[in-house]
Amino acid sequence: MKKKIFIKSYGCQMNVYDSERMYDLTKPLGYEMVNDKSKADLIILNTCHIRDKASEKVYSDIGRIKKQVIEKNPKCKLIVAGCVAQAEGQEILNRSPIVNAVVGPQSYQNLPNILKKIDSEKNKIVNTDFESNLKFDNLNYEKNNSSTAFITVQEGCDKFCTFCVVPYTRGYEYSRPIEDIIKEIKKYAKSGVKEITLLGQNVNAYHGYDINKIERKLDYLINKISEINDIKRIRYMTSHPKDMNINLIKCHKDNSKLMPFLHLPIQSGSNKILKKMNRKYSVEEYEHTIDAIKSYRDDIAISSDFIVGFPGETDDDFDKTMSLINKIKFSIAYSFIYSPRPGTPATEIKDNNNLLIKKARLLALQTLLKKQQDDYNKLFVGKKLNVLIEKKGRNSNQFVGRSIYNQSVFMNSNTNIIGSIVKTKIINSTNFALSAEVI
Ligand code: SAH
Ligand code: SF4
Ligand code: F3S
Repeated sequence: MKKKIFIKSYGCQMNVYDSERMYDLTKPLGYEMVNDKSKADLIILNTCHIRDKASEKVYSDIGRIKKQVIEKNPKCKLIVAGCVAQAEGQEILNRSPIVNAVVGPQSYQNLPNILKKIDSEKNKIVNTDFESNLKFDNLNYEKNNSSTAFITVQEGCDKFCTFCVVPYTRGYEYSRPIEDIIKEIKKYAKSGVKEITLLGQNVNAYHGYDINKIERKLDYLINKISEINDIKRIRYMTSHPKDMNINLIKCHKDNSKLMPFLHLPIQSGSNKILKKMNRKYSVEEYEHTIDAIKSYRDDIAISSDFIVGFPGETDDDFDKTMSLINKIKFSIAYSFIYSPRPGTPATEIKDNNNLLIKKARLLALQTLLKKQQDDYNKLFVGKKLNVLIEKKGRNSNQFVGRSIYNQSVFMNSNTNIIGSIVKTKIINSTNFALSAEVI
């Protein structure tokens, strides 16, 4: 009988990718995935440390797993992986003795060994080494029955924004060699994948070696990937405004497989706050980049992230963020109240705002962004869009896919259209999705 594994991913898409690789590593050991953790022999929590709430959620989940699973089945093993594992290491074992092993995002290739050790010994394992280059060479890459795939091409970050844990949890910037990436994508393409999203904490800082050991940038990688016939769509995220170079911008015009969508987080519309955040660009430079992209691809959809209530943010700074949003008009955006992270420099800046002010600012900002999202989606009603179908919807005959602009699109079909790119006419819109009929 197969052993059962349950993996929960928190946080970003790079964790989703890592979780898939963790599962691939356990398959040869006889594991199969279950959706019900009470049936599991092994539970992996692939955690996120980006904001306080994300980290605390992990500890409350551990408490629940202890009661609901491990007290009933003491043989079930529990591993904490991901960015909380990296940041807290041994501390997790001290706080939650029920945990068998702690493994960081750059060392989970050692999972088979770790499993052996925790199976045969009473020992607890903490493995938080940084081994990005070794990691990718020691993973398995499989993908089944999916029309889209994420693939990590770049890891870590050297930018050190003052609020962010990523440089500490994921380590320094590392770019995978082009050949390895192409090999992995070809494997996915063979199993039916049509759309690839290239992932990295700073994906547009990509500078991997080609086969001749020449360093190449992201636009080169995108062009190489687009030579794979079965790959029809390419996306990338997350990009840093500072690394948005002209060749990548031009690629949006010259490469028809590169989708017209760009996630480019600005965080704040105030130069004073951007400086305190150590973001390394000004509002004017950001606007200039957006203008440049639009001059090559005028229909590009722009998305962003915002932090409100950063220490030192005044009403005036916040108004500047609102003005910037009004000027740029985002197709979608994510926004968060600043969360002080242990060990990051921003925790030393005096916080002048109370929670009520921060919440009021977040509400105002999200109301504006939601309106923009709603307005943006309304523009498509009555228009035709090509949609790559990803999965079944909730209702019978319903399917869900993605437009070239990254919107979710719902439609009905009597035949199974998963994996195909269908021509649709948009009949309705909300702030988060479109509904369409197949033409
Ligand atoms: N590398 C990307 C962002 C990665 S983190 C970039 O530089 O844009 C994803 C988002 O989480 C960030 O864009 C930011 O908006 C948010 N974030 C990161 N640290 C945070 C913190 N301490 N408090 C609140 N939001 C945070
Ligand atoms: Fe974090 Fe992004 Fe800044 Fe890197 S560039 S430190 S990942 S917010
Ligand atoms: Fe979270 Fe780590 Fe991703 S902190 S956002 S899981 S890089």
